Amino acid sequence: MIVLGISPLDKDATASLVVDGKVVFAAGEERFSRKKQHAGFPTQAIEAALRWGGVRLADVDVVAYPFLTADQEAELIRKSFAANEAFEREATGEDLAKELRAALARVPRRERPIPGLGHPNEVLRKGLLKETYYRLVGGGSGLARNKALALAHEWQEAAIAAHRRHEADLLAGLAGLGLDGKLRRCEHHASHAANAFLASGFERALVVTLDGYGSGMAGSISIGERGRIKRVHSFRFPHSLGTLYENVTGALGFRPDRHAGKIVGLAAYGDPAVLGPVLLSRVEQRDGDFRLRQNLNVRFTQNLASRFPKVDVAAAYQHVLEVVACNSVSHWARQLGLQDVVLSGGVTANVKLNQRIHALPEVERTFVYPDMGDGGCGTGLAMQLSWPDGKVEAIRDVYLGPSYDEAQIRAALEQDGLQYSRPTNLAAEVARRIHAGEVIGRFDGRMEYGPRALGNRSVLYHAREPAVNQWLNQRLGRTEFMPFAPVTTWEARERCYVNLAGAEHAAEFMTITFDCTDWMRANCPAAVHVDGTARPQLIRKEINPGYHEVLTEYEKLSGIPTLINTSFNMHEEPIVCSPRDAIRAFLAGRIDGLAVGPFFVEHPERKRA
Ligand SMILES: [Fe+2]
Repeated sequence: MIVLGISPLDKDATASLVVDGKVVFAAGEERFSRKKQHAGFPTQAIEAALRWGGVRLADVDVVAYPFLTADQEAELIRKSFAANEAFEREATGEDLAKELRAALARVPRRERPIPGLGHPNEVLRKGLLKETYYRLVGGGSGLARNKALALAHEWQEAAIAAHRRHEADLLAGLAGLGLDGKLRRCEHHASHAANAFLASGFERALVVTLDGYGSGMAGSISIGERGRIKRVHSFRFPHSLGTLYENVTGALGFRPDRHAGKIVGLAAYGDPAVLGPVLLSRVEQRDGDFRLRQNLNVRFTQNLASRFPKVDVAAAYQHVLEVVACNSVSHWARQLGLQDVVLSGGVTANVKLNQRIHALPEVERTFVYPDMGDGGCGTGLAMQLSWPDGKVEAIRDVYLGPSYDEAQIRAALEQDGLQYSRPTNLAAEVARRIHAGEVIGRFDGRMEYGPRALGNRSVLYHAREPAVNQWLNQRLGRTEFMPFAPVTTWEARERCYVNLAGAEHAAEFMTITFDCTDWMRANCPAAVHVDGTARPQLIRKEINPGYHEVLTEYEKLSGIPTLINTSFNMHEEPIVCSPRDAIRAFLAGRIDGLAVGPFFVEHPERKRA
């Protein structure tokens, strides 16, 4: 069965072509449109998928879309909010002012500078007027409850309108391709569950999905068994860990839909004991479920963010996320007698949370779907609809996007008048240059599917220099509080990371952090965070021989089996897709050299210098 999967059109629209459970092609529209997290119908990604698969529109059996109709979604949203209103109204008041005074007394003095912050205890002040307003409607009073309900109503109406808009886009896009009669829909969390479980290769597992919002829910618990998934529990919206984290991301001055990773990085510098108890007092946890008081009242988070150090606010939210999610996972793992856990949904992009889940005593093996956000949902449903009964096969790699042949690469280089060479051993040349301190872009083979660059559209640098994060981020036009992530050869994994057992497969996709060994901390300081963790990609030779060879050649020179691997893109742009994109980013990004297909190009400005 040939299924075309289309992920939700609201953000990161993605197309995937799945034939009898096997993903033949998958890529986000952003890579073609060059608009980050592209919203709208993924026309170019669909064209690329069909071209790659040699499939005509008429051959497509089913189009899979991971949301119900706009009318059904509207009904689910209204139902969730009606239930929530009753929950909010039964709350007795809290003395938030007193709790916050106690919390302020717990703020530690900090002297050690934090990269990216003017002062380690920097607070995002908002001015007297705004701060007074936040205290009023983000405090513990009846005013705050009314504000929470008003914001919930606003959220509800905006979400219903967005569903209607995206439905119109979807139907128009499909009609334009003559595919409108083939549409099959499913409830959102079923698609997250499907991609996590079906790609895990596990025979039996606890399937956990956690995100912001989807079909009236913010998460789910299911049992996966030999290709089949049975739901046992739903986390009802607005009790959403995704929304909780989006609130803090926005309140600390970042884009809620895009920059959650910055908060994870920032949190490691803070002390969760400052605000953790205040946040936890607003959470009810029972029987593997949780409810979050006033979760849509972003004014509460803004109230905290305007009075407390950024690092302590971030640390408290990260802590609460970990506590609540881990309590639920451990409850359901025990209750259902399952030791293997698979994860999907935007919240599971949180690599620290995934480490905590893997560390739970109940959990033996952990797998995280590499495209865990909504971009992966169309793929999940497409896999499920075409999945051969009982099949158990793990995802091998995410090199599922387009590739370009030598003639296309050569034409792109010549179009820009760039001088290039064709080294006899390109991997050795790249390794030699990295060892000498150069920053090298690597463009080769099929583009990665999902949010991470995993070697084929990557920028590589050595990990020996602790200060690299500041200057390389500056060169690439980014602000990050987390260090760059490392890529390590599969053979050397135990030398660099601890407690890998049971999460090795997840570690092939940079979806989870690990504590680093002393050796790693001493030899690769640029890739180790202040809390001693790193988020590695383990690379096996059979998965990507050319990339693996760069690592082994580098190890011959340096004795170190690890490099920094960061995505090949310019500030806030999508990761490069075509040779043309790569050359543009290379020239603008002040990268020293570019390995593109079989060719090597030295930066023209560097040559002149
Ligand atoms: Fe989702």
